[in-house]
Amino acid sequence: MYVPENVVTNDDLAKQIDTSDEWIVKRSGIRERRWVVEGQTPVDLAEAASREALADAGLEASDIDCILLSTLSPQHDFPGTSFFLHGRLGVAEIPCIDLRAQCSGFLYALDFADALIVSGRHRRILVVGCEVHSTGLEISDRGRDVTVLFGDGAGAVILEANDAPEDPSGLLEIRLHAEGRHAKRLWVDAPGSANGPARLTHEMIDEGRIYPIMDGRFVFKHAVTRMPEVLRETLDAASLKLEDVDLFLFHQANLRINEYVAQQLEIPADKVFNNIERYGNCSAAAIPMLLAEAKREGRLKKGDLVSMTAFGSGFTWASALLRF
Ligand code: UT7
Repeated sequence: MYVPENVVTNDDLAKQIDTSDEWIVKRSGIRERRWVVEGQTPVDLAEAASREALADAGLEASDIDCILLSTLSPQHDFPGTSFFLHGRLGVAEIPCIDLRAQCSGFLYALDFADALIVSGRHRRILVVGCEVHSTGLEISDRGRDVTVLFGDGAGAVILEANDAPEDPSGLLEIRLHAEGRHAKRLWVDAPGSANGPARLTHEMIDEGRIYPIMDGRFVFKHAVTRMPEVLRETLDAASLKLEDVDLFLFHQANLRINEYVAQQLEIPADKVFNNIERYGNCSAAAIPMLLAEAKREGRLKKGDLVSMTAFGSGFTWASALLRF
């Protein structure tokens, strides 16, 4: 994983907009987040995370045969962010794919990477989640409900074909869902090709249509329903029980959502690992960042059963069961 060095505390935000450390901590659990400084790009973060993943796996960039990158805050409109990462890493002329599924983006990418490996199409895939939210947030009282929640960061994993019958590690089950009729409950309108004759006008900027809009309570309600549902679905598919899971990783949108989900499922607090208080919501980067920190802190050991669950804009929701 990689996050920018620049720490933005709740008090820093309270100097610019009408909010407070108390409100943000009470409603979301967030204490600080990392925001890029001028000149730092999503691919800077993605490259650093990818190089760390390669080093951790003892691999070279030339060993990778496909890149799958998930983001809701692309480097540019086109080409996809994965191409800019491709250009940085020194990989061979391998394919790369951008995948857009917002906060469930990493789990969506994991599922497609897994399918590509199982089909025999690829053997070693770099899966990346990266976000620079901070350059797209409205630093004003109008945008405060969204602005205080989001952070910048990247996380990466390498998925490899496992031919060893004695090694049980790998993805056991993964389930993805979407409900597109709620697409506008958490979205950004402009720039967009739907806004013809021009994707972006001065009026759109003045009206704030370039900033994310969120129906917070509606999103919260759906998140706390869908996350336990899909988590149980993967466990049932794998014929495993909640008690079998060693570590639960939930998307880091709001600590209250995760506490509520854990409480509904009667998951003991010591089996849940969160880092939202330090990073805020990093959308597609959140789960690989959790994986990296859990491993670094000794919370994730070889052979552990890990459950990863996300919910986000789209609406999208997903859960995966991994034998580490
Ligand atoms: O990753 C994608 C998924 N995203 C999520 O899962 C987010 C889901 N939603 C949430 O996490 C919560 O709805 C929020 C944290 C966004 C908001 O918490 P809430 O308890 O639902 O608050 P609210 O939106 O109902 O607002 C309560 C009050 C309002 O004031 P009034 O109308 O009661 O006077 C807001 O204007 O809090 C006010 N408010 C703020 N006050 C201080 C909204 N944002 C802020 C702020 N600072 N940043």
